[in-house]
Amino acid sequence: MPTILAIESSCDETSASVCRDGKILSNIIANQKVHEKYGGVVPELASRAHMQNIVPVVDVAMKQSGVELKELDAVAFTQAPGLIGSLLVGSQFAKSIALSLNIPLLTIHHMQAHVMANLIKDPKPSFPFLCLTISGGHTQIVLANSPSDMKVIGETLDDAAGEAFDKSAKLLGLPYPGGPLVDQYAKQGDPKKFVFAEPQIADLNFSFSGLKTSILYFLQKQVKADPDFIQKNLADLCASIQHTIISILLKKYKKAALETGINNLCIAGGVSANSGLRKAFQTMCDHNKWNAYIPDFEYCTDNAAMIAITGYYKYLDGQFDDLSATAHARAEWK
Ligand code: KG4
Ligand code: ZN
Repeated sequence: MPTILAIESSCDETSASVCRDGKILSNIIANQKVHEKYGGVVPELASRAHMQNIVPVVDVAMKQSGVELKELDAVAFTQAPGLIGSLLVGSQFAKSIALSLNIPLLTIHHMQAHVMANLIKDPKPSFPFLCLTISGGHTQIVLANSPSDMKVIGETLDDAAGEAFDKSAKLLGLPYPGGPLVDQYAKQGDPKKFVFAEPQIADLNFSFSGLKTSILYFLQKQVKADPDFIQKNLADLCASIQHTIISILLKKYKKAALETGINNLCIAGGVSANSGLRKAFQTMCDHNKWNAYIPDFEYCTDNAAMIAITGYYKYLDGQFDDLSATAHARAEWK
């Protein structure tokens, strides 16, 4: 019955979660609004905000769980990948708690944790399963054989899916992060109104930089003829852009499912919060009689519950770390 405190601080969300025997008791997330006016995450500001947020966030997560500090069996934290200053705040805090309570540490790979978010709630996929992990920094198709045996079988060659959303949104004059706004506007728009070219890549890898460029050239041409073009067509533009990104993602995901013969399919990461993608993914799986797994919204974007659940499985496996563990900006899968 391990009781685990987990901390996530890899980018611009400070989050803490308590989990007992694989059940999430709390999941507190503090967003950092400070980056909005810069159009992207400013690493130094993110580290400072983590330092301000970490104590109250952990405090609320502990209180909400009803667990006392002395009841904790281990502390899990995001070790990599991420912004090094941000990771250091979470890792040092986790190490301090582990030292003071004399309990072990569990070091967690952020991308593995996104995949494991699918094991937080029932119905859970059985192994092996595939996961399309789509976030602001990554776009991966992962083959998960077990909690500790995961392999990336496809990934982006340039921009991540979240970047494709955010950079397209920026071209439309929307504030950062634009992904959720594109999702909102797309609900009122026609996804077939504008057609953008999709990359032709034969294997399971993705590319999104060409899409960004074709949207830029298209908008430049239209705005020249009508300066109000974007305002007049915002919903249709968002719907068409979203439709293209979803099409690029799901065509590759379908190919991966057919090639591997695996019919348990999950999605994860911030972009998996996209309502159009969730619907299209479910439809694709229903059509092919595949099992679709979609995490709750709060477990899609960065959160500590996914760190806690990954920590739980590592705990069961006896994969502990000590105080010599450090954060890394980049890390391969272990
Ligand atoms: O996983 P995440 O919270 O952080 C990273 O690890 O990157 O993902 C953030 C990304 C951003 O690019 C954001 O625009 C995108 O997820 N995102 C969305 C939606 N919600 C978040 N993109 C499209 N539609 C959404 N509803
Ligand atoms: Zn993430």
